[in-house]
Amino acid sequence: MRTYDIIKKKRDGYALSNEEIRFFIDGYVKGDIPDYQASALCMAIFYKGMNVDETTALTLAIRDSGDVLDFSEINGVRVDKHSTGGVGDKTSLVVAPIVASLGVKVAKMSGRGLGHTGGTVDKLESIEGFKVDLDSKTFIDIVNRVGIAIVGQSATLAPADKMLYALRDVTATVDSMPLIASSIMGKKLAADDDCIVLDVKTGSGSFMKTVEESKQLASLMVDIGKKAGKKMLALITDMDIPLGYAIGNALEVKEAIDTLKGNGPRDFTEVCVALASNMLHLAGHGSEEECEQKVYSAINNGSALNTFIEMVKAQEGNVEWIKSPELFPTARYLRQVKAEKSGYINRVDTEGYGISALLLGAGRNTKEDKIDYSAGIILSKKTGDYVKSGEVLATLYTNDKEKLASAEKKFLSSTFIEDEKPILRPLIIDKVK
Ligand code: URA
Repeated sequence: MRTYDIIKKKRDGYALSNEEIRFFIDGYVKGDIPDYQASALCMAIFYKGMNVDETTALTLAIRDSGDVLDFSEINGVRVDKHSTGGVGDKTSLVVAPIVASLGVKVAKMSGRGLGHTGGTVDKLESIEGFKVDLDSKTFIDIVNRVGIAIVGQSATLAPADKMLYALRDVTATVDSMPLIASSIMGKKLAADDDCIVLDVKTGSGSFMKTVEESKQLASLMVDIGKKAGKKMLALITDMDIPLGYAIGNALEVKEAIDTLKGNGPRDFTEVCVALASNMLHLAGHGSEEECEQKVYSAINNGSALNTFIEMVKAQEGNVEWIKSPELFPTARYLRQVKAEKSGYINRVDTEGYGISALLLGAGRNTKEDKIDYSAGIILSKKTGDYVKSGEVLATLYTNDKEKLASAEKKFLSSTFIEDEKPILRPLIIDKVK
């Protein structure tokens, strides 16, 4: 078998066999297939797509490219949640401690930022001392003791995904349905969870821009997970507007802490409550209505925040920062972005907001880039709000003054102010079971 022939076959629009897909994944992980051939194949997949059998074969090959974990030493039902990626999407920081405080075990492996979207691991690393690399014994001990641990994807878990994820990030091949489905489900199936809730984002800040595409992606992942014996459910949630008001790592952790205290933004809280309720329901903790009540009580009685604090302590993060969020370092430079005319914010290009935050230092342009944890954006106005000319739309934060101008330009060109008040769609758009 030759890699060249596999690339050519996909380039010409034919379906790849299970053997060809395995040959590619095994060869890429071993280093026999170079990045330039892997990029060419990803681009061919981007243009020609993959059918369900090919996507399933790619998912299983990614799963089998490394260790398949055994969580049988964790006591209780294990539930995971994974987002397809968004802007201001800090839901895992809120949802995971809520359900863990209610008796469900969350042994979570999270990702770093990808393209214009943020990643949970980068956000957690903005907490002083927080360790995202734990050996498996420590990880399992913390989950049994605290109910939750969140770590980065270890080098031995789905290494094919780790390599492809970084490659796709810099070769404009992220937003492909089979590549997203196999990336997410390949690593989810390598972890040993009983139930998985997927948060499939849709809209301008998501990799899938239309509801139709997002539903298709959700059904594909739910079917792959069910075939592998997992209890699965996906919510399709809105990403035409950033979630909450904070975009950028430390800024988002602070907003997550506010939300765990019951003082979070309305939209962000609604999405967190829906995800957490569905995780609990899937884990067999009652009807959806009962689970929603439990979620609200975990926020209101402080147990969710307490679980988050216990997790940060167990993972060696500085809990004083969680108790007093003003201790998070703030960026040296800030700039207020002002409206250039009066009117309603009719729509925003949420991906553009993500790129503006990335330009400020909150994300990576290359695999090697270091994150500026205090960089990002705090929105003052969101879609549907009326603004007067000269009114502050947002504040940009960075430690590199040079970055302010391009980030401001990107932010303004992503904000559309019109005379017409927009009609906002619901945040929870659909559910796929
Ligand atoms: N999240 C992932 O884990 N993989 C993707 O390809 C996109 C979002």
